[in-house]
Amino acid sequence: MKIGVFGGTFDPVHQGHIELCKTAIRELDLDCLYVMPNGNPPHKDGRTDASHRLAMVELAFRHLEKVKISDYEIKKETHSYTYETLSDFRKLHPDDEIYFLMGMDNLSYFPNWRHPEIICQLARLVFFGRAGYEQISEGAKQIAKQFGVEPILIPFDWDISSTEIREEIGQGTYLFHQLPFLVYQYIIRKGLYGCPAVGEYDSYEENLKNYIEEKRFLHSIGVAVTAYRMAIRYGEDPKLAYFAGLLHDIAKRMPLEKQLDLCKKIELHPDEVAYPKMLHAPAGAGFVKKKYNIKDKKLLSAIRYHTMGHRDMTTFDKLIYMADYIEPCRDFDGVEALREATFCNLDTAIIKGIDTTILSLVEEHLKISPVLLEVRNDLLEREQKGC
Ligand SMILES: [Fe+2]
Ligand SMILES: [Fe+2]
Repeated sequence: MKIGVFGGTFDPVHQGHIELCKTAIRELDLDCLYVMPNGNPPHKDGRTDASHRLAMVELAFRHLEKVKISDYEIKKETHSYTYETLSDFRKLHPDDEIYFLMGMDNLSYFPNWRHPEIICQLARLVFFGRAGYEQISEGAKQIAKQFGVEPILIPFDWDISSTEIREEIGQGTYLFHQLPFLVYQYIIRKGLYGCPAVGEYDSYEENLKNYIEEKRFLHSIGVAVTAYRMAIRYGEDPKLAYFAGLLHDIAKRMPLEKQLDLCKKIELHPDEVAYPKMLHAPAGAGFVKKKYNIKDKKLLSAIRYHTMGHRDMTTFDKLIYMADYIEPCRDFDGVEALREATFCNLDTAIIKGIDTTILSLVEEHLKISPVLLEVRNDLLEREQKGC
């Protein structure tokens, strides 16, 4: 068997780590790859608690079949040097080929590690990176000369760093490609890296599973985390935005009669009655008010109008409306441009979003609700007036 070992702090794990593992499995034809977060040193070093880093790594790699998560170093009470970890690992896998994966930045430091000669006997060294190739081959030659082994060099270009993520995450920056959204959700649930914590809504999330299917559940989490991030960007309450995003589609799978019943006290637009698909929005607002006794007007309005929008939408309404459009599970043509536009100018993004919807309705030969045009024209007028 060919086994890879990839250690790191993973504070937090990000898309670059995932892509590196995929590349390693493919290029080295690995049967199995162990991802191994480092433990917390006995003296505090500012590192996020190991239990959180491990949980995030588990979420990030849950879809990669050949990846196994190892808590070996985390469980060890003392600091584990790589040569010790690999020695123990070798005992468990005496006949397998072991590949030890590292970032290219370790190439020049490697000779200064504790017992590099033992590491070289225990595993093949594999370096991934984007640095200038000449520099790399110099470093590799040095290792070959000093330790008599040929390191494997794999070009890898993925410009993401955990440090940057930690610095930017609290600012509502556009981070769609850097972090798997379930890792982002974990971060904000637990309030890591200075993010306001939303763990108080965990029970609502659990309860939500009773009302919608798995795919819509993931969509709802996607909307929640996107709305949270947008709220920071646009000066709204991120926790409330998360909560509204989580609940926005709660009535989607309810029978039509039930939805109509929930809308009894709500003034419906004729199009909402004409297109029953739209009803889950006002029904959802009616449901969360009744079931959870939620009276927050901002939250209820955002859920109520998340499908149709309306003239004079508040910024908070717009957050949920647009988060529903661009959340990470969406993958229609043009979604990427729409995501970037959303974090640049919310109104312009909504206009673009409505344009996309109108074009697809025209293509499918379907009717266009006048409300859609009203919202679009209203925003366009404001944009043109510069307000
Ligand atoms: Fe919806
Ligand atoms: Fe939705």
